[in-house]
Amino acid sequence: MFEAKAIVSDDKVTVYRDLAEQLGALLSDERDPVANAANTAALLFTSLPGLNWAGFYFLRSADELVLGPFQGKPACVRIAVGRGVCGTAVKERRSILVEDVHAFADHIACDAASRSELVVPLISGTRILGVIDLDSPLPARFDLDDQRGIETIAALYVTASAEP
Ligand code: SME
Repeated sequence: MFEAKAIVSDDKVTVYRDLAEQLGALLSDERDPVANAANTAALLFTSLPGLNWAGFYFLRSADELVLGPFQGKPACVRIAVGRGVCGTAVKERRSILVEDVHAFADHIACDAASRSELVVPLISGTRILGVIDLDSPLPARFDLDDQRGIETIAALYVTASAEP
């Protein structure tokens, strides 16, 4: 049985290094993309403080993301590329940090409690497979250390898993 180790540190770089180590162990014997996404979402949601949603959207066609495994309240199932924070991250092929979701004109509210958001694309070579999305009820919950940390987690997921 895998037991998530409590990460006790105020230093985000240390937190994400520990998290990446735990995720590496968690995904080491498995390549199923859904199982690995489910465990990644669960690890993020239970290990990182101040989240109300953590999960995946997969690019199922050139122009649409579809909801994948997640933790948190039920969420919108389909997001067009170019729409919302998730679709914008895919269109612009980059991570997007939103300190205040009310100030992001095209933000799609799945949980009215969300105040800030971090979306990181899943990149395999030159292709984008989907995104990891984190939401928080706290304003400005995410910073550049979180972005770098989740980019490492996304890369680990992509390397460890077959294509979703
Ligand atoms: N807020 C996202 C939608 C997904 S939910 O947050 C889970 C967006 O604007 O794309």
